[in-house]
Amino acid sequence: GAAELGPYRHYMQKEIFEQPRAVADTLQDIESITPELFGDGAYRVFKEIDNVLILACGTSYYAGLTARYWIESLAKVPVNVEIASEYRYRDTVPSPTTLVVTISQSGETADTLAALKHARSLGMEHTLTICNVATSAMVRECKLSYITRAGVEIGVASTKAFTTQLTALFLLTLALAQTKGVLSPAREEEMLKSLRHLPVAIAAVLALEPQIMAWADRFASKENALFLGRGMHYPIALEGALKLKEISYIHAEAYPAGELKHGPLALVTDAMPVVTIAPRDELLEKLKSNMQEVHARGGELYVFADADTKIMNSDGIHVIRMPENYGKLSPILHTIPLQLLAYHTACARGTDVDKPRNLAKSVTVE
Ligand code: G6P
Repeated sequence: GAAELGPYRHYMQKEIFEQPRAVADTLQDIESITPELFGDGAYRVFKEIDNVLILACGTSYYAGLTARYWIESLAKVPVNVEIASEYRYRDTVPSPTTLVVTISQSGETADTLAALKHARSLGMEHTLTICNVATSAMVRECKLSYITRAGVEIGVASTKAFTTQLTALFLLTLALAQTKGVLSPAREEEMLKSLRHLPVAIAAVLALEPQIMAWADRFASKENALFLGRGMHYPIALEGALKLKEISYIHAEAYPAGELKHGPLALVTDAMPVVTIAPRDELLEKLKSNMQEVHARGGELYVFADADTKIMNSDGIHVIRMPENYGKLSPILHTIPLQLLAYHTACARGTDVDKPRNLAKSVTVE
């Protein structure tokens, strides 16, 4: 009811603004990283496995895609990420030393549960879930688990569930890295410190809302949008495009920026807004030349740039500066403005934000 919504217009907006609390709750008061955060016996499992297979649907799948970058870079364990509805029907080459990780807000998604059972039927016994519902089928079916503390999510378009999944997946990365002996205690402590600071960092990004609303007014009249990211921000571009599609019904696609010239450049005109995630990382210079390719064809760029990048507002290039550069955790911070952009664009178009047409919160049938 209206009382629960407080100052917010929709549950989605409320849930976006709850993220500092949701992430803090998901981190609980973790004092140090240990495999046992994921359940009894996790140390033995993490020792034994030599690869990870992530299975999920929708937004949860994009959390998995992001985690691949973290796990491979920090824990040095190879990762595959599969859409559950594809994996369950595909002939694969199973390995008994795989850690099967399912990611699910509800813990009841039919395809993800079936993919998990399929993996087990192939002899993969090491199962772990990142899930927001402690009493769900998914948690019962997996040996190990980490419960995100997003709280009940009502908006069909997932927001706080996604950022808490990423938080839990980063913890998993650190626990795997520790077990594999590839992360120094000093670096581990530094990462944990940066995790603990996340709620404050997210709150600072939420303060960008007025600037993002101004952009949303311009997006509301568009029928197409392109989202660009590179590296670990490519899955965030995918998530940004999904949010916009789901609730504003604007057709949106995400591309890894380096792939522009292999197709999407043909679509770029002045009617095509191009949202660009521009963290200051080793790919920034390459990204800038990708942006130039768009600019040269009259495309309007809407850039979320880190504080320490020198990308400036100019004709056809609109920049919102992020409050800080967040290193490995940057994908979590860069998610927030994309949620707000989709939300306010949908509001400007007058759609039913919390209950978009044709979509369900939890897809419990195939
Ligand atoms: C539906 C929801 C999405 C969600 C997906 C997977 O499509 O609308 O928001 O990401 O299901 O759900 P799960 O509960 O497994 O994360």
